[in-house]
Amino acid sequence: MRPPVEPSAAFASCPERHGTGSEKWDRWAGRDVLPAWVADMDFRAPDEVLAALHARVDHGVFGYTHEPPGFRPALCGHLARRHGWEVDPDWIVAAPGVVTALALTARLCAGPGDDILTFTPVYPPFLTLPGLAGRGCVRVPLVEAAAAWSIDFDALAAAAGASRAKLLWLCHPHNPTGTVWSRAALLRVADVAERHGITVVSDEIWADLVLDDDAGHVPFASLDHPAARRAITLVAPSKTWNLAGLGCAAAIIRDESLRRRFRTAGGGLVPMVNPLGYAAAEAAWQHGDAWRRELLAILRHHRTLVLDRVAMIPGLSCRAWQATYLAWIDCRATGVSDPQAACEAAGLGPSDGRTFGLPGFIRLNTACPADRLAVALDRLAAAFAPG
Ligand SMILES: Cc1ncc(COP(=O)(O)O)c(C=O)c1O
Repeated sequence: MRPPVEPSAAFASCPERHGTGSEKWDRWAGRDVLPAWVADMDFRAPDEVLAALHARVDHGVFGYTHEPPGFRPALCGHLARRHGWEVDPDWIVAAPGVVTALALTARLCAGPGDDILTFTPVYPPFLTLPGLAGRGCVRVPLVEAAAAWSIDFDALAAAAGASRAKLLWLCHPHNPTGTVWSRAALLRVADVAERHGITVVSDEIWADLVLDDDAGHVPFASLDHPAARRAITLVAPSKTWNLAGLGCAAAIIRDESLRRRFRTAGGGLVPMVNPLGYAAAEAAWQHGDAWRRELLAILRHHRTLVLDRVAMIPGLSCRAWQATYLAWIDCRATGVSDPQAACEAAGLGPSDGRTFGLPGFIRLNTACPADRLAVALDRLAAAFAPG
């Protein structure tokens, strides 16, 4: 028997989100469909973050805002404590979102008609942003094995050699499979990038939600490798502390000339980070670790609940995810041609695998109070009930 996880009040319930402009909850408004798609959590942010936001609001003046003096030290301290990565504060550039920063790198590090490599299935903007920037997207499918998803390095090298790839967008840990790339895998990615003159952009937005202690996160740019020294790392507090609506992220760029060009790449189109985003990020990185650890215990428990339930539903399978709160569920053996439609008809709203580049899968967001997850799992079973 596994010990039960007793969530504290912070994780036992969630305030009503209907009518708050929530992207997640508005999607099926008016229908009995439980939203379990977009990656935000049905939990309030930590008290420490709320206190910092209250203090900033009480100041009452919200003029144009530079990074407050505590922002970079808070991020450096967090990266050193959590990942053993010593970052020079000068390497940090704030950005209003990781997706915005990715879009900037498409324009900065590749020219019109050049290609961007990415491992699929993947977080949908990795597939759509290159085209929006007039760049090609070259997909390198991950390999499915019984225990884990892995990178096909021969396919990666072949794709790098056969394309006009200037960039590789790495999702680390990987959304949607929840894979934490090992140091050995990262070094092999770095070798390919170096051989072909490719800049690696490592999206590490999920790095603080590694569920298993033995699957430690190694920041790509912390490798002792030339490709790591000219990489761009993207981080944010938004997934870990549920702050996505506040629009605050950071790029970490060691190469000075690249960093200088990144700062101006927005060309007036990219807004400054807002003062509340800064306040929340700084508080989360500095004071959010106890809350984060409690969250991880809940998410590990939810992973067990989902895996146990999925194993009981004929035709469904799911590999244990090492990071994130996202279950990537293979529905192909059910024979159901449109798993997303089947789920919605049963009152469950996951993400559709097609948008990640892999039909036949759904992605289920497990970051919600346990009673809500139980309803989601009942509806998942109903969606694929025989007959
Ligand atoms: C891998 C990845 N990158 C970026 C984002 C979004 O980042 P932002 O809201 O800062 O643009 C997400 C959100 O789910 C994500 O999963």
